[in-house]
Amino acid sequence: MDMIDEIKKWRKEKNAVILAHYYVNPEVQQIADYIGDSFYLSKVAVGLNEQTIVFCGVAFMGESAKILNQDKTVLMPDKSADCAMAHMADAQTIQKMRDTYEDLAVVCYINSTAELKRHSDVCVTSANAVQIVKALPNKHIFFIPDKNLARYVAQQVPEKEFVFNQGYCPVHEHMKLREVKRVKELHPEAEILTHPECPEAICEISDYIGSTSGIISYATQSPKKEFIICTENGVRYELEMRNPDKQFYFTETEPVCMDMKKITLEKVLHVLKTGENEVHVTEKVREESGKALERMLELAK
Ligand code: 13P
Ligand code: SF4
Repeated sequence: MDMIDEIKKWRKEKNAVILAHYYVNPEVQQIADYIGDSFYLSKVAVGLNEQTIVFCGVAFMGESAKILNQDKTVLMPDKSADCAMAHMADAQTIQKMRDTYEDLAVVCYINSTAELKRHSDVCVTSANAVQIVKALPNKHIFFIPDKNLARYVAQQVPEKEFVFNQGYCPVHEHMKLREVKRVKELHPEAEILTHPECPEAICEISDYIGSTSGIISYATQSPKKEFIICTENGVRYELEMRNPDKQFYFTETEPVCMDMKKITLEKVLHVLKTGENEVHVTEKVREESGKALERMLELAK
């Protein structure tokens, strides 16, 4: 039996469902029951019939799925797969901001630890951040951890005052404007589609800014035939699947999230067979961080 058949067999035997982010390896996306961006996956994770969720992504994704589904078993194919940005804020600074601004809302990008979510008022993803921040009654927003997504949201919601944190995604932050410009010189007809975790200079020359699923939908619906993609290279698989007649270009230094790439078919099979790498969250953390996640799902409806 080949590995894919074995995964299917164990998935059935364990009454499991496989969720995968667009950044994981294509062969893992191929065997997933649901593939999507962080927002889609957090919505999907609520209300699944299966007892076990295998989450092909990084730690905060599995942790959020567990927080939203306390009765389910959530398994991570690689427990060391983590998002560097998820740790780039701290509770003391949040408290300092709360002491400084009376009407502050602490808005937490879902790419954050459960501990940070506990100290936040609401979570957002790159797909719903603008909508949710607009809907908040608060004038002052402390947006953690990502400075780039914060800047992008602040530009879209000028009626609010933002306090910025200095976190960033190393994969997007280190993309080079000159490399994007070089691809544009080679393909002048191509539109530039960018994730809001990118630096401002790249956003400024972009034709579209949005989450991974936003980028995929935009390219799929566009009459244009060529696109320069400024986000992690895992999205190439879905872009090409949906658009076999279109061309997708990446910068010379392809953006790769090494943590997302830790997920392999072997590891998916291993956790299905053994039940290893289960996500555990204490009741206190689940209750407190769950509020911010549930508020996101409510406000984004
Ligand atoms: P999405 O919100 O588009 O899923 O992005 C998640 C992420 O990790 C971006 O680096
Ligand atoms: Fe985190 Fe960046 Fe990897 Fe996304 S691409 S999971 S933000 S390190």
